[in-house]
Amino acid sequence: MKKVIHIVGARPNFMKVAPIHRAISARTSLQQLVIHTGQHYDAKMSDVFFADLGLPPPEIHLGIGSGSHAEQTAKMMVEMEKVFLKEKPDLVSVVGDVNSTIAAALVTSKLAIPLSHVEAGLRSFERHQPEEINRVVTDRLSDLLLTPSRDADANLLKEGIDPKHIHLVGNVMIDSLLSSKEKADQLPTLKTLGLTPKGYVVATLHRPSNVDNPKLLAGLLGVLMDVAKQLPVVFPVHPRTRKMISEQGLGPQLEQTPGLKLVDPMGYLEFLSVTSQAKLVMTDSGGLQEETTALNVPCLTMREQTERPITVEVGSNEVVGTDPARIREAATRVLAGDFKKGRVPELWDGRTGERIADLYARFLGVETKRAFG
Ligand code: UD1
Repeated sequence: MKKVIHIVGARPNFMKVAPIHRAISARTSLQQLVIHTGQHYDAKMSDVFFADLGLPPPEIHLGIGSGSHAEQTAKMMVEMEKVFLKEKPDLVSVVGDVNSTIAAALVTSKLAIPLSHVEAGLRSFERHQPEEINRVVTDRLSDLLLTPSRDADANLLKEGIDPKHIHLVGNVMIDSLLSSKEKADQLPTLKTLGLTPKGYVVATLHRPSNVDNPKLLAGLLGVLMDVAKQLPVVFPVHPRTRKMISEQGLGPQLEQTPGLKLVDPMGYLEFLSVTSQAKLVMTDSGGLQEETTALNVPCLTMREQTERPITVEVGSNEVVGTDPARIREAATRVLAGDFKKGRVPELWDGRTGERIADLYARFLGVETKRAFG
């Protein structure tokens, strides 16, 4: 029986693998194993997502944890190599752009195992960002490059990737969003937080380029404190950001700001229940730019660039940089009701997991139970 290994490690991986895993089970006879690298290990950054997304617990957990880039990536590689040699997968499937992704890509390709990259072709063209390095290298090594949108295809073609390896499959994260929305809508999160639909802002910050720079971090948090004077701001704080806030002694000031609700990282369904009803989302996350586009919720991205330009061209996202004055102005404008109307990009239709399952089956010479319509 042909075997596919999925690699997960960090929070944004789980919602991408769940729909692929589900579709492979439903449509093919492929055997599948999920390996969790342990890059994210807090229950609120990992376990809750398996439960929320109906993804079975990983068969193998490498327990790597945090470390410098070299340390973390190298430890993952050493452990993954042992597993791959034992399990002999026919295909390794990686998603996104985190350190777990590049570690798996390097090990897989050196063992001459076919590698598939889901979410291939995204580029911010900012080589100082770890995710951009992870994207470029993983794509270079992949045999199947599965893209979420046509701009990603164009990036890969420009880099000289053979078009026969590129497959436009759509955005798999939107599968998770669409299949979870109803469940999320039934949660009492808004009530618990004392919020009303369209009566609050959701903020997230975790990019090293924003939060590891004390001056920039203070500026961005200052904007959130200002916005909270206009409308309540829910701010689930990522562990990296919490650490920086505490090191910089900014905690008391934030906690004393009326209207700014600092909360722990939320589970998938809980977070979806708040983002889907927000008046505005302010973030530096990649995935959230896509989720707000699918939900048609205004999003201000606090970064200089996005690797997801379709969310700006077609969707409800606006890249506003990191200058506090500019972000403040944009937020005030959106809260006054002035924001473009977005649309949902092509193939962000909830069936990307099925397209990927069919593609893997074809690639491995296995029949699918139901042909994709
Ligand atoms: C990683 C990804 C980033 C992704 C983000 C989503 C890389 C290079 N970065 O960044 O692309 O957007 O995940 O969350 O892969 N920590 C905990 N508990 C955890 C995990 C981390 O406390 O469960 C703390 C540790 O102090 C750790 C720090 O957060 O050192 C950073 O974690 P790390 O996995 O290195 O990167 P993220 O910032 O989470």
